Amino acid sequence: MHSAWYMDLTAVLDGLLDGVMVFDAQGKLTAINKTGLRILSAQCLEELLERKPPVARDEEGTPIPPDCSPVARALRGEQVVHQLELLDGQKGPRVVLRARATPIRDQAGAIIGVVKTLTDVTYEHALERLKEDFIRVAAHELKTPVTLIRANAEATSNSLPDLPTSARQLLDALVRGADRIDRLVSSLLDLLELQGGLLSLSCRRVRLDQILAEVVSQLPRAAAARIRIPESPPVEVFGDARRLRQVTRALLDNAIKFSALRTPIEVTLARDERSVHLKVRDHGFGIPARAREHIFEKFFRAHSGTPQDTCGIGVGLFVAREIVRQHGGSIGFESVEREGTVFDVELPLGKRA
Ligand SMILES: Nc1ncnc2c1ncn2[C@@H]1O[C@H](COP(=O)(O)OP(=O)(O)OP(=O)(O)O)[C@@H](O)[C@H]1O
Ligand SMILES: [Mg+2]
Repeated sequence: MHSAWYMDLTAVLDGLLDGVMVFDAQGKLTAINKTGLRILSAQCLEELLERKPPVARDEEGTPIPPDCSPVARALRGEQVVHQLELLDGQKGPRVVLRARATPIRDQAGAIIGVVKTLTDVTYEHALERLKEDFIRVAAHELKTPVTLIRANAEATSNSLPDLPTSARQLLDALVRGADRIDRLVSSLLDLLELQGGLLSLSCRRVRLDQILAEVVSQLPRAAAARIRIPESPPVEVFGDARRLRQVTRALLDNAIKFSALRTPIEVTLARDERSVHLKVRDHGFGIPARAREHIFEKFFRAHSGTPQDTCGIGVGLFVAREIVRQHGGSIGFESVEREGTVFDVELPLGKRA
């Protein structure tokens, strides 16, 4: 009975598409399934024969020190859920693996080994790099012509004071279009920067009320006319003015896009002992309940394919949340479908503000 069960388990493990390895309390390999053998034997046959965990590299290609390996971490009691490893020997093509490791405990709770799983993500990883390279090249290639279009449209408009209104409107539309592409390109470059870790911030004391006024003044006239800002005393935080402008712009853009023309948008700034709140409230379409948990994910657009679908690539909120997080703050929202949405950005006052 027992051996039949054991045979079934071996067959199941061998049938898995993930590599499964079991290590004892000393970190020695005691069992490996067929996929594990196939993945590892091309690069690390010697280590396998010696029953040692293969030496892996991190995403940058630096060897992972033995005490930071998923097996060592799991032997210390950690549940390792995601670690990318490169196996980069001379014997075969480079393999990118996603490793997970879980401690195995006896009934008393003592760690007696580790089970590690390996998923071959070489293809997905290569695709991701390709996507990033494409975005980087396309974004840089777009920057120069867009800057040229904007500069020329502005120069023409400024140098010809007697232009007929229709021609001036045309030039204004060119400037706005160029601005839109420029913001899009910047968002894509931000995404790439975030992929590598953090955005670069240059923080100092900044007036949030002034930032808000500046952002509103750069909106198209019809959109700016919808924005209501109650009087507030000066609100200062310690932050990166350009990045906070970007957050404010992203929230206002959304409030404008996802609500009917002419409905008001209320923006308030409030300060308590520890933090500042920037709230943007619209009376628009709202965010569908099933979409709410995804709203800050990159490229997620809740209204795509619906009559409320407008322009955008779904990175505004993703980048805004990262900026706010890097300021030590948080961003949240409440939304009721067909009634409206309020986004709330909380920024800490901190000692420096
Ligand atoms: N105020 C809002 N009201 C309703 N839906 C919203 C609101 N703000 C955001 N959303 C939903 O969240 C999605 C993601 O917003 P996000 O700003 O990240 O992307 P986007 O506006 O589509 O594109 P962009 O990258 O140009 O900002 C939107 O596509 C929209 O479906
Ligand atoms: Mg947006």
